[in-house]
Amino acid sequence: MSKIAHFNHDFTQQLAYAKNSNFADRMLAWFHKYGRCDLPWQQHKLTTPNPYPVWISEVMLQQTQVATVIPYFYRFIHSFPTVFALADADWEQIADHWAGLGYYARARNLHKGAKQLTHIIETTGDFPKTVNDWQTISGVGQSTAGAIVAMGVRDFGVICDGNVKRVLTRWAGIDSDINKSATTQKLWQLASLLTPKQNSGLYAQAIMDLGATLCTKARPNCAFCPIQDDCIANQQGKQTAYPVKSKKSPKPSKYSLVLQLTDSKQQTLWLQRPNSGIWSGLYCLPLAFIKKQQAHKTITTWQNLADCQDKHLPNEYLPIEQLIVNFLQQQHLLNLTQADSLFTLQPKPIKHSLTHFHWHLLPIIIDLSDKQKQDLLTQIQSANLNTNTIWLTPNASKTLAMPTAMQKILPN
Ligand code: ADE
Repeated sequence: MSKIAHFNHDFTQQLAYAKNSNFADRMLAWFHKYGRCDLPWQQHKLTTPNPYPVWISEVMLQQTQVATVIPYFYRFIHSFPTVFALADADWEQIADHWAGLGYYARARNLHKGAKQLTHIIETTGDFPKTVNDWQTISGVGQSTAGAIVAMGVRDFGVICDGNVKRVLTRWAGIDSDINKSATTQKLWQLASLLTPKQNSGLYAQAIMDLGATLCTKARPNCAFCPIQDDCIANQQGKQTAYPVKSKKSPKPSKYSLVLQLTDSKQQTLWLQRPNSGIWSGLYCLPLAFIKKQQAHKTITTWQNLADCQDKHLPNEYLPIEQLIVNFLQQQHLLNLTQADSLFTLQPKPIKHSLTHFHWHLLPIIIDLSDKQKQDLLTQIQSANLNTNTIWLTPNASKTLAMPTAMQKILPN
């Protein structure tokens, strides 16, 4: 098949071209010479592969770059060397090992997944062997399952993650919206066809590595690329135009005060978030959600929290936070005009972006007298809200398992 067919936008012809293109051989030859062959989770040099470290690393790598993951991976495997150790571990300990990596749902899924895997191993005697079976494990999607089977089970597995999609859309000039299911289907079809029946694990590492190091989002290094000759994006000189993504509507914003309730010993109140919802199981300072208009006025003209509170209480608002806010209002502790000396506002809100919204966090320090602290504790206790609380100095709080947003608020 000639290159002309490849240029032709008929997908069937492109598939036929791809089949005879030596794509995988070129990838593998490049990987042997230039690829990263010593990443700590790789199994290709071992006689018998172990799916456990592959699973852990693939989940860590879902939203995080290799260089960031490496130290976390070492620490994690050191503390939880087997799937049984992970299944038996306390969530606090796992969260502590995850602190700073973000997207904590991944750590939750690993904990849950370890329990599921333990059950499977106890029943069948081994880890799951197929892509379908791996996809039943929490947090393991089709591409992660393909990677685990290809690299950790050493059977046939296909991957089509973000890196691979970028490489393939450029190479084949696929210019339809990557978020449309028809495009995803095409990419999976192409990815499956290009994956060699033997060595799919090495190939998976090769194409991911090429995507991460050469075929990068902003500055692809085509001169060193083994597939540059028949890469359509390269020939068009339009590499960064791929993959094509439709513009998403902008993310909404939410605004909260972050209440640093500080007692006479300079200890601040922390709450443990419940086991479901955002930041599940992690420690956070109490939040008070406010309306957008007030967020910008807060520092100078904010007078009364009752006027500022968001009437549509977001899901993230905990009952204990509502109790605290009511208490502070009763105590007039949140009325800026009343006693300036009680408040220390930092001038700038901290912007923290999550998957579905931007969060603008306004830290505010509120000093509590011993009596006020005692009254607050009594109210919390009698409300029976089932939320763990702890008072810690800024230094001591550094060891808490907390989300990145809270780390941004703590003084260095
Ligand atoms: N990204 C996702 N999985 C990866 C892996 N195994 N090696 C390098 N980058 C990756």
